[in-house]
Amino acid sequence: MLKPTEKIWHNGKFIAWDDAHIHVLAHVTSYGSSVFEGIRCYETKNGPAIFRLDRHVRRLLDSAKIYRMDVDFTADALSAAMLELVRINRMRSCYIRPIVMRGYGDVGVLPLNVPVQTYIACWEWGKYLGEEALSHGVDVCVSSWTRIAPNTLPALAKAGANYMNSQLIRMEAHINGYAEGIALDEAGYVSEGSGENIFVVRDGKIHTPPLGASVLPGITRDTIIELAASLGISVVETLVPREMLYIADEVFFTGTAAEITPIRSVDRITVGKGSRGPVAEKLQKAFFAIIDGHAEDQFGWLTPVAKTEQPVGV
Ligand SMILES: Cc1ncc(COP(=O)(O)O)c(C=O)c1O
Repeated sequence: MLKPTEKIWHNGKFIAWDDAHIHVLAHVTSYGSSVFEGIRCYETKNGPAIFRLDRHVRRLLDSAKIYRMDVDFTADALSAAMLELVRINRMRSCYIRPIVMRGYGDVGVLPLNVPVQTYIACWEWGKYLGEEALSHGVDVCVSSWTRIAPNTLPALAKAGANYMNSQLIRMEAHINGYAEGIALDEAGYVSEGSGENIFVVRDGKIHTPPLGASVLPGITRDTIIELAASLGISVVETLVPREMLYIADEVFFTGTAAEITPIRSVDRITVGKGSRGPVAEKLQKAFFAIIDGHAEDQFGWLTPVAKTEQPVGV
C-alpha cells in the first residue's frame, strides 16, 4: 500500500500530502488527459541520487508537447523541484511521480481552455515484480490485447490514457496466473510489456523492438543499450516476431519499476534454461553497481539529492 510522505509539489509550491486533491470534474478524470513520469531515486553509498533525471524530465516535456499541453515550468525548474521534494520528505530512496494534467474548467473534449496543473509526488517503493523476480525470472504470456496502434494514441508519449491499454494487458495476465503480459503491435510483432520494454537474446546478440513498434522510449531501455555497448554486447533495434520469444536463449524486461527482470517462460514455454541467463546477469551486475554507487557513474546517470555548495565565482 502507498505510504504517504509529508509534501507534494504543486505548481511551484509544496503542499501537504492530504491537500493534493483534484475536482471530480477535472478534465483528466473523464478523458485521461495527463502525462507523467516514473523515476527512481536510489540510495547510493554517497546518499540519495535520482536516476537519469534529465532524460525523464525531457520525456515528460515531450509527452506534454505531443498533447499540446503548456507546462509553466522549465526542465531545470522541474528537476530542481524533484530534488527539493526528495530532500523535504527526507527520503533515502523513493519513486518520484511528476504528473502534468488538464484540471478543472471546461468539461468538453476540447481541452485548450482547461488549466494545466503540474504535481510531483514521491513515496517509498520496493521491487516491482518482487525481489525474487530479479534473480529467478518471471513467467509471462503474450497478451490477447494488441498494443496501442500507431496514429491512434502516440506511444512515444507517456500519457495516462495509454495505461488503459496497459491495464487490460496486466489484468489479463494476472487473472491467468502470469506475472506480466507482453503485447504485440498492430502488425503482430513484439511490442512491450504493460509497463516494461523487452529484450531478446539469441546467440549472444540482443534484439529489442524499435520505437516504431508502439513502444515507450524507455529510459532503462536506453540505459541497457548504452551499458551493453560498453560491455561489448551488440544490441540491434529490430522487429521481433512473437516466436522469437520462445526460441530465445534469454528474454528480459527493462523499466524504472522492473529494472532488469529476466523472463523464464513465455506462454508456459521455457525460455533458455528457465532461469536468469548470463547476459541479463551481466547487465544487472553492471547496472546495480552504478546505482548503488559502488561502480563509477561513468555515464553521469545519477544526480545527487544533497545540496552542493556552488563554488564562489562560478
Ligand atoms: C508501457 C511502458 N513501457 C516501457 C516502460 C519502461 O520505461 P522506463 O525505462 O523509462 O521506465 C514503462 C515504464 O515507464 C512503461 O510504462
